[in-house]
Amino acid sequence: MPEIELRGITKRFGKVTAAENINLKIRDGEYVTVLGPSGCGKTTLVKILSGIWEPTEGDCFIDGRKVTGIPTYERDLGYIFQNIALFPHMTVWQNANYAPIVKDWDREEADKVTTESLELVKSLRRKGFKPFELSGGEKQKVGIARALCAGSKLLILDEPLSALDARVRLELRYEIKRLVKERGLTAIHVTHDQEEAMSTSDRIVLMRAGRIVEVETPENLYNRPKNLFTANFIGEANFIEGSILQCGTGEIAECKTGPLSECGSDECIMETRHKHRLVIKNPAGQFKVGHGVVVMVRPENLSISHDEKEHSLEGRITDKIFMGSFIRYRVGLVTDDTVLVEVPEADDKIFNIGEKVNVKFRPKKLLVYPQPMEGLKEVLSLE
Ligand SMILES: Nc1ncnc2c1ncn2[C@@H]1O[C@H](COP(=O)(O)OP(=O)(O)OP(=O)(O)O)[C@@H](O)[C@H]1O
Ligand SMILES: [Mg+2]
Repeated sequence: MPEIELRGITKRFGKVTAAENINLKIRDGEYVTVLGPSGCGKTTLVKILSGIWEPTEGDCFIDGRKVTGIPTYERDLGYIFQNIALFPHMTVWQNANYAPIVKDWDREEADKVTTESLELVKSLRRKGFKPFELSGGEKQKVGIARALCAGSKLLILDEPLSALDARVRLELRYEIKRLVKERGLTAIHVTHDQEEAMSTSDRIVLMRAGRIVEVETPENLYNRPKNLFTANFIGEANFIEGSILQCGTGEIAECKTGPLSECGSDECIMETRHKHRLVIKNPAGQFKVGHGVVVMVRPENLSISHDEKEHSLEGRITDKIFMGSFIRYRVGLVTDDTVLVEVPEADDKIFNIGEKVNVKFRPKKLLVYPQPMEGLKEVLSLE
């Protein structure tokens, strides 16, 4: 029944801080992925939890037991390394069968589990091969089988599918999830593939530069990201900077986006304001007149037409990509912003590059964030 807790974990390598004040609780039986750009500290986090590295500060708990200082083999976990580390002198079978033998299981039971695990990753027919006779992807599969054979209730997978081709990756991703749920394991799966994280996780731990940004369900991260970095990292997003012009009745405010008219006359300013105006929701009057804001909207929540003017900004189609089930348009707006708009392929109307259009921003589909002090570009950067 492994429940995990990381409390105030920091790891420094000289001047580099690979993880900083990480606090995280993982429930028994949860499938959690750790997601984030390269170098953000994902491997560091799981190496510390597994006891391969000791933290500079903080403690890890497995089922309420403080495991700081306790070696890996006494933490009872299955670990799939980012760089597959098979025993080079052993065959595929011996690698997978290693933990059951060391743990002194009944021979029949050990062989049954080993067969099942190798079958799951479709590697049973290579059971007599040595690691040097396997490709990178094949080694990765044996690494997965070996970790499953350990019979531990806690499974740590660090980029377990990265060396596999797209189809096998997809298949194994669901197989591993099914197995984890079936056997009631707790799994921590490191990846930088957001689609992999979205499709398998109960919750995602999103990291950036050694820190946790957000811990949430895939759905909440996509639909209700708490901050701009999350909105940008998970899925496609459009960002439009603006400032609050007017706060209306109820929960609605108007915001002006894009640069002010160069002409400077009152008429020009009014005209620009009108053309650049977006209506946003303003729950609890969070934003006041003059506040800088960033409006975020997913491409599938925008639509394009020639005639619908309400809640629309004018623009011109600059690019059009056929994506199978939908068409992705790039539209240069009158506000100088460029937005992506995704329209179902089944929609009757197809627009062409160069066409003048109106892009509709439905207020309830817009998420609005305070303008970040450090600037939008800085907040979105993956470093
Ligand atoms: N042994 C080490 N000595 C010094 N710095 C290290 C060491 N291991 C990791 N780092 C640094 O710590 C940071 C986090 O590394 P980590 O391997 O945890 O990243 P990651 O999120 O797993 O990246 P990736 O997606 O590329 O695997 C990086 O800046 C890395 O250079
Ligand atoms: Mg890593």
